[in-house]
Amino acid sequence: MDAMTLLHERSSMGKLMGPPPDAEQLEAMYQAALRAPDHKELRPWRFIEFSGEGLDRLGELFAEAEFREDPHAGDAVLEAARKKPKRAPMIIAVIAKVTPDDPKVPRVEQVISAGCAAHGILLAAHAQGLGAMWRTGKYAFDPTVRKGLGLAEDDELVAFLYLGQLGGRHRPLPQHDVADFVERWD
Ligand SMILES: Cc1cc2nc3c(=O)[nH]c(=O)nc-3n(C[C@H](O)[C@H](O)[C@H](O)COP(=O)(O)O)c2cc1C
Repeated sequence: MDAMTLLHERSSMGKLMGPPPDAEQLEAMYQAALRAPDHKELRPWRFIEFSGEGLDRLGELFAEAEFREDPHAGDAVLEAARKKPKRAPMIIAVIAKVTPDDPKVPRVEQVISAGCAAHGILLAAHAQGLGAMWRTGKYAFDPTVRKGLGLAEDDELVAFLYLGQLGGRHRPLPQHDVADFVERWD
């Protein structure tokens, strides 16, 4: 796939099946992430890869988050939380590892950089014929989940990237008119 086709046609895939990406595919995805624009080369990111029992452990964290939010949450709610990570054979959590108070690189720039790294992973997944979907949802901002994944106070969980083999067809690509979004100062 040539680069412009990839940039114009990447799309998300919510239906994902096993097997998870293999080691070579993952290496290519992380290398793409590590080419994200990065002011002062702070490398403001950290990745956690979940597969197999790791997905169960993540699901357990989600259930703990539900329980902390509502100690009366019923079994159905806790079970639904436990199952969320099972929507893919692999999840990569992308964490913005923020250096606070950098005089030149404010927090927002570091979080954007980590977001670009996440996009790099999505693009490299698509280029390799894999399916991928960027999700956050309330668990990405939940204190129990943040603590369980070892986030420092200034860090941000920017993405849970769900990854796997395509389990369905991509949605038709939306048509956008560039003029709706671009103002030109000639
Ligand atoms: C920061 C961020 C968080 C997102 N979180 C979710 C989410 O929790 N659930 C969801 O269904 N889509 C979420 N999305 C949107 C999807 O990943 C996807 O981009 C959207 O469905 C449009 O599909 P497309 O990527 O094929 O254009 C999120 C996107 C971003 C950038």
